[in-house]
Amino acid sequence: MLSLCIAALVFCIAVYGLPESQSALKAYALKSSHMPAQQWTKTNAVSPNHVINLQIGLKQGKFDEVLRRLAEVSDPDHANYGRYLSAQELNKLTQPKEETTSLVTEWLSENGINPSQIRYSAARDWMYLDVPVQKANQLLAGEYSMYENHAGKAMIRTPDWSLPRYLHDHIDTIQPTNSFFNPSSNGLKPEAEPLNSVSIVTRPAQGPRDPVAAVCTMNRLTPYCLRALYGTQNYTARAAGRNKMAMTNYLDELSLAVDARQYLSKYRPDIIAVIKPSAKLFDLVSINNGTIQQTPFNPAQQAANTGIEGGLDVQTMLGIAWPTPLTIYSTGGRQPDFIPDDFTPTNTNEPYLDWVNYMLALDDDVLPQVVSTSYADTEQSVAKDYAIRVCNQFAALGARGVSMVFGSGDEGVGGKGCLRNDGSGKSTFIPEFPPSCPYITVIGGTQDFNPEVAADDPNTGFTSGGGFGEYFARPSYQDAAVTQYLDINNNFSDKYSGIFNTAGRAYPDMAAQSVNYGIVWNGTLRNLDGTSASTPAVAAILAMVNDALISSGKPTLGFLNPWLYKKGYTAFNDILSGGSAGCNTPGFPASKGWDAVTGFGSPNFPKILRNFGVDDKLDR
Ligand SMILES: *[C@@H]1O[C@H](CO)[C@@H](O)[C@H](O)[C@H]1NC(C)=O
Ligand SMILES: *[C@@H]1O[C@H](CO)[C@@H](O)[C@H](O)[C@H]1NC(C)=O
Ligand SMILES: *[C@@H]1O[C@H](CO)[C@@H](O)[C@H](O)[C@H]1NC(C)=O
Ligand SMILES: *[C@@H]1O[C@H](CO)[C@@H](O)[C@H](O)[C@H]1NC(C)=O
Repeated sequence: MLSLCIAALVFCIAVYGLPESQSALKAYALKSSHMPAQQWTKTNAVSPNHVINLQIGLKQGKFDEVLRRLAEVSDPDHANYGRYLSAQELNKLTQPKEETTSLVTEWLSENGINPSQIRYSAARDWMYLDVPVQKANQLLAGEYSMYENHAGKAMIRTPDWSLPRYLHDHIDTIQPTNSFFNPSSNGLKPEAEPLNSVSIVTRPAQGPRDPVAAVCTMNRLTPYCLRALYGTQNYTARAAGRNKMAMTNYLDELSLAVDARQYLSKYRPDIIAVIKPSAKLFDLVSINNGTIQQTPFNPAQQAANTGIEGGLDVQTMLGIAWPTPLTIYSTGGRQPDFIPDDFTPTNTNEPYLDWVNYMLALDDDVLPQVVSTSYADTEQSVAKDYAIRVCNQFAALGARGVSMVFGSGDEGVGGKGCLRNDGSGKSTFIPEFPPSCPYITVIGGTQDFNPEVAADDPNTGFTSGGGFGEYFARPSYQDAAVTQYLDINNNFSDKYSGIFNTAGRAYPDMAAQSVNYGIVWNGTLRNLDGTSASTPAVAAILAMVNDALISSGKPTLGFLNPWLYKKGYTAFNDILSGGSAGCNTPGFPASKGWDAVTGFGSPNFPKILRNFGVDDKLDR
């Protein structure tokens, strides 16, 4: 409330200066204020008739209970471990109180919006309505304008928005208002050299069960290598179907089956030998008009490297975890380079929200157990009220038993620049969102073998992302590990005093190989770096763990972190050197135990199975 008052002195005086009369409660007070990130400049006014799709996040009835249940079902020592909530159980907890829905509906009616114009999410905790900009300005005492970035992308936003005071406790957030979230892929770090000319060390007679020394080379990382390195190579999936995995595409990214098949022919000939040429390699789901094109890339898409990220993710996951069925969720909502027309709704919704609400509406038996996402933006590009609500939706999906893994970013401690957007002109480490959300699992990057070290590739400028968020406090599950890391390093008070939040959610949680992944794009081989590569690799290994758990009659992993920080970490290969260089500093160093560049390190599949008491005779 205090910061709100400072930001809106005028409103606060108005509100506090009056008795709590009806009129005071009806008076508008600032609800949220958020400066655009540097790259966005206000360019011009928007036509009052331009239509936007407002998303109103109603306060959820029993969200504390969702968090309590999430903590129980994710704690390996709790009696309710693995007893994930059904869609119905969860929706009962997240649905708003009746008072909330009716107050908001009445307010909208008073402003000329008929209840029939309102659509709802499955739990009725989000309202969606299309309104012209002038109506949105009236509802929110806002000033919607056009903001553009150097790449010619445009968004319609209002940095400040207000609500009648009596609604402040009933509405968590409304978007699009002041979030300038523009997620980009963590994986677009292709090697400068055209890939076909990279000398490929092809060793004779590479087979699916050859040891690391025979199948691993830093020139090009392949699925045989990843499987040998992390110990899944001798495991045969036996719960495919009951076990499912998924990945997400945003920003018009594509995953072409024809490229994936070519990749498997090259790197998993043992799989291709048994897949029918007509068999589907994955299922495609379009959310909010996300693109699911399967025809070859057009010239514009080739020029924009479209499909590199989407190809990397699908190929990496299939290369490790086939025959586990894979679903690709493509969510629309790219920031368009558009001149908005009157009356044509634009799709500038925040894509994570569309995705997570779609997932929450799915039936229990179609929900995948693990989902890989390789897209993020700086935390400061997202308004805090909105980041909190999206993060809470992730918690809700975690309570339903879905493991969500996200890349930690590719620029060390300074994702996309180090300047703050609060007008202070200060430079600090800049954390990323969603990685700063405590209810997901964040994956950093490594390279080399024997020993594996934190990733830092001078050829592409890629460094594993890591650090401390500012919006979310450090969750209790990581208190001991992170405190120990800070203590060993004297809180970095000599070097980094005041430029990171020692009390924030620290990431990543774990890591995996992330340099020189060979993939097929547009019919040719490419090498790629990024936590975009380590993230689907980890997701696929976790899918193999789930396969073994399901086949042993045990619950699947769900939200991993409470297990990971309590006992799972002993099953990871500790990474001891390298760092998350960025912002002209060496960043955070890798070190014994948890660290802010590789988390607890890379997965060791047989050890993870033993950690769960699963028979690790893998070769059955
Ligand atoms: C898989 O089996 C091969 C051959 O039996 C063996 O050389 C290799 O070490 C095994 N790999 C793992 C990770 O257990
Ligand atoms: C969906 O996307 C396609 C191409 O990406 C576009 O042509 C079409 O207008 C979009 N439809 C809607 C309803 O936004
Ligand atoms: C993509 O493939 C087509 C067909 O082989 C080729 O003509 C085109 O040059 C390729 N584009 C890029 C960017 O490599
Ligand atoms: C680090 O900071 C915490 C909290 O401010 C403090 O309790 C702790 O003693 C500090 N540790 C060192 C080694 O300075």
